[in-house]
Amino acid sequence: MDTAEISKARVVSKSHDVESSWDDEFKKLVQSFPKERSWAGSNLYFYQGFWRPSLVLKAFISFQKHFQAFNSDVIVATFPKCGTTWIKALTFSTLYRNQFPWDENPLLTFGPHQLVRFFEYDLYLNNPFPDLRNVCAYQPRPFSTHAPYATLPTSIKDSGCKIVYICRNPMDMFISLWLFAAKLRDKNRESLSLGEAFDKFYHGISGHGPFFDHVLGYWKASEENPNKILFLNFEDLKEDMDSHLKIWAMFLGVPFTDDEEKQGVVEKIAKICSFENLKELEVNKKGVHTSGVPHPHFFRKGEVGDWSNYLTPFMIECLEKLIQEKLNGSGLTFKL
Ligand code: A3P
Repeated sequence: MDTAEISKARVVSKSHDVESSWDDEFKKLVQSFPKERSWAGSNLYFYQGFWRPSLVLKAFISFQKHFQAFNSDVIVATFPKCGTTWIKALTFSTLYRNQFPWDENPLLTFGPHQLVRFFEYDLYLNNPFPDLRNVCAYQPRPFSTHAPYATLPTSIKDSGCKIVYICRNPMDMFISLWLFAAKLRDKNRESLSLGEAFDKFYHGISGHGPFFDHVLGYWKASEENPNKILFLNFEDLKEDMDSHLKIWAMFLGVPFTDDEEKQGVVEKIAKICSFENLKELEVNKKGVHTSGVPHPHFFRKGEVGDWSNYLTPFMIECLEKLIQEKLNGSGLTFKL
């Protein structure tokens, strides 16, 4: 693993400082975008149909303008709090399993976000032209993004690169995001109440939202081009990791051999990437991601159905109706 490259990644200043670093031309451009408060207290800007956190708005535009995909690239795409950390670990361990000795899996020493790096929260964050030649010691190059499908750089859409997308039921995603945002909020600012966050979510306002537009964008694209986009569900992985990992490996062009299956490689990957294992690794218990998020914040409970401990009957009813309305005719369903 290219540890030098990883250690070069610098932690950025907090998102509310970012706007003061924008040049006049960018400030002028942004003035024309609708603006809202994010759940953690910074700003969201509505750009190309989605709410972009101020922290990554400029980085996203650089990424969209300049990134040139290779046919071999693998891109992990997600909506926040839908299992990004988990599928980064799984994609990494599956893709490169024959490129390192098993007991030296880099996941034991680096966090999933350091191994599969974000375009907008990391690589392009402080640099509109990052050197991506040695972004990872292994080939093919792995990347990740929260960018909606419609707004991906054309080179990603038009090249042969593969996209793995994970979706999660909106009730768990909502609670996960609400609790995550509370941890990121400035100590001197009161956290958003559950009701306030619900109101924003219901109206599609959260970083990279609207949630349903994000999910349906990838869902439709995966239906049109299943060889390019693998659409996974958090809940399905929880229920049956092994058969999904086999599909995943096949999709990535690295199917498990009979020998590997006999040796229990699929189960080993599932185990090393499990919530229980990753959360307890020293590397995930300390340190801060390039975006300023402490690594432990990426691991909370990792369960399906925790929403039932938080949502009121009114919120559940509203969300059920919203899910029905938004997914109507799409063929997509959520397991709650
Ligand atoms: P909860 O807050 O419900 O626990 P993301 O990685 O997209 O930020 O999503 C974070 C959510 O995924 C959190 O959900 C976190 O606990 C959960 N998570 C992180 N690692 C996981 C893993 N290995 N297995 C299952 N869930 C995981």
